[in-house]
Formats: sequence, structure tokens, C-alpha cells
Amino acid sequence: MAGNSFGKLFKLTTFGESHGKAIGGVIDGCPAGITLDFEAIQHEMNRRKPGQSKIVTQRKEADEVEFYSGIFEGKTTGTPIGFLIHNTNQKSKDYSHIKDVYRPSHADYTYDKKYGVRDYRGGGRSSARETACRVVAGAIAKQFLKHVKINAFTSSVGDIFIDKPYQDLDFSKIESNDIRCPDAATAEKMIAKVSEVKKQGDTIGGTIMCVIQNVPAGIGEPVFDKLHAELGKAMLSINAVKGFEYGSGFCGAKMKGSEHNDKFNEDGSTQTNLSGGVQGGISNGMDIYFRVAFKPVATTLQKQETINSSGETVEMQGKGRHDPCVVPRAVPIVEAMAALVIADYMLLRRQETKDW
Ligand SMILES: Cc1cc2nc3c(=O)[nH]c(=O)nc-3n(C[C@H](O)[C@H](O)[C@H](O)COP(=O)(O)O)c2cc1C
Repeated sequence: MAGNSFGKLFKLTTFGESHGKAIGGVIDGCPAGITLDFEAIQHEMNRRKPGQSKIVTQRKEADEVEFYSGIFEGKTTGTPIGFLIHNTNQKSKDYSHIKDVYRPSHADYTYDKKYGVRDYRGGGRSSARETACRVVAGAIAKQFLKHVKINAFTSSVGDIFIDKPYQDLDFSKIESNDIRCPDAATAEKMIAKVSEVKKQGDTIGGTIMCVIQNVPAGIGEPVFDKLHAELGKAMLSINAVKGFEYGSGFCGAKMKGSEHNDKFNEDGSTQTNLSGGVQGGISNGMDIYFRVAFKPVATTLQKQETINSSGETVEMQGKGRHDPCVVPRAVPIVEAMAALVIADYMLLRRQETKDW
């Protein structure tokens, strides 16, 4: 199965399935000499892990990371960093009912068509369990990027959204509630919505906004590897993501140039930032901000009609522990993928300018 690696110079390869013994990864190209804060890595893992609140899946995993290489006396050595996260709380029986049945809008049908063999337990490799490895690598990338600030938060759940520009939000409040929305009143409504949907055995979608600050001007490659294109790829590679927009995004398509143009200040900064910090695929030193849309995930606990591998119509009902809304757990995943892209592009820039 190809397509398990991400990045050019700061490169992550992940392996493992949801109900296998362990998942893990190899980070190649991480510069030497970074003193790692292991508590900070675990903190990021705890933000993603299942069972952290009543509004996420109740699978219980400690998600403790074991490092096997690339670190000596607490510092990166510049050699590949290999790590493992053991799976300890699988309940594979919960998935026996979908052994030969395809969940609508999950990856069961497509994996079967591509490989002819499918680990149906917990979704196998298509499970978002794999994203725990991205969070490990992202936490290390964040430590490499110590001057860059990356903050993601839940910006909407269903039709409930934050009705304020991000500049009016206090990012230190993101972790103050279970949904990871920095606006307390909106967070309360979002949590009530997810709880209501969960009671109905249903799921609901939402969006995450991410703001990256202190990225210097000049990061990004101009044609096929534009900075926003790489961020888009990173975000669209996260399970259940259906949309990505940066800067003015789809709203910009309704505006005139006279309204949309970001006027310069004399120092090169701009008075507005509808460009979202990227012009021509290269950072301009302003905040990079984007939104990511997550679908309501496929596994509802309601009865639904589907087909089995013989093409017969069957009725199925999701069982086991599932996320009614993935956005609160996806916030650290979005940050991790953003950190991987920025770390990679910073290293590319350093290679180009020979500025070591
Ligand atoms: C943090 C996170 C948790 C998820 N939890 C579930 C879940 O409990 N049940 C489910 O059906 N899908 C869940 N998903 C989504 C599936 O992994 C995803 O829909 C599936 O792999 C098919 O891929 P696609 O939706 O990107 O096409 C989750 C996604 C994320 C990001």
C-alpha cells in the first residue's frame, strides 16, 4: 500500500491498523539537536485520544508513545525517529457484523475493491487511529518550529458557528471546553447539539479553523508545491475531511477586486488579509489561516440499508464505540498536519538559501 508517507525533507511514514497490535511511524529528516519535551508530545496525544470526554468515542486508549530511535539524551540525533503506540482497547467483536457488509460512506467498499482483502476490525488502516502517529510527528515539528504559533479550534458544529473574526477570540480558551471552541457561549450550544445527536444514535459534521502565526515571508514553492496547495493536501488527507478553504476562500468568489485586494503598509504587511497569508503559493509574513470541513461520520447507530460483498441488499446497524462528531478530536490533528507542512517548507527554504 503506497501513499503512507508525507513530506519532502521532514518526512513522516506511518503504519498500523486500528485493531492490530500497534500503530507507529518513522520521522526522517528531523534536524539534529532539538531538545524534545516528551510531556508536550503526550499532551498533544491526550488532546486527540479517544475516551477524553462524553462527546467522543468511549474507546479507552492511553496512547502512550514509545520511541525506539533517533533520540539520544533527550535530543534528536538527525537519524530516523521510530516510534510505536500500542493498541490496548480493541473490541474486534463489535465489527463482526460488518465482515461482509459495506458501511455506507465508509471506506469498506473501496478498500475491498482496491485490495480484495479488508481488515474490517475498526476500519483497519482506514481508521482515524492512524492519525495518532501524525500527532506525534506534528508535536515534534512544533518543537522544531518554536517561534511559529499554530492554533486550531472548532469553528462550527452543524449550523452552530462562531460569529466573530478569529482576531476577537482568545486562543488560550480553546482547551477550556470539550468541543475546543474558544467562544464559551457557542461552545455550550455546540456541546448540547453533539449530545442531542449522540442520543439519537446519529452523527454530525463541523468545521475547524486553523491560524498559523509568525511564519516569515518567503516560505513555499511557486508552482505545483504552493504552500496553500500543500496545506490543502495535508488537510484533505485527514479522515472525514470534505473541504478546505484558505483566506477569503469561497466567500472571495462573491467579491470584487476593489473589495478583496489587501492594501500594503510601507513595511510590506497588509491592512486586510483576505489572501490568508499566502500569495502565489508563498507566505507573505501575515497570518496564514484556513478552514477545514468534516463530514458527519459514517457509523451511525441507526438502522440503515446497504449491500454486502455479494451485492445483496441488507439492513445493518452500527455497533460499538464511535465518534458522534469528530471535530473536537480532529483539532490536534489539523494542528499536527499544519506543523508538518510548515516544518517541511522551512527546511526546503533553508536548503534553498543555504541559511544554516
Ligand atoms: C478523529 C476522527 C475520528 C473518527 N471516528 C470515526 C468513527 O468513530 N466512526 C466512523 O465511522 N468514522 C470515523 N472517522 C472517519 C473515518 O475514519 C472516515 O470517514 C473513513 O476512513 C472514510 O474516509 P473518508 O470519510 O475520508 O472518505 C473519524 C475521523 C476522525 C478524523
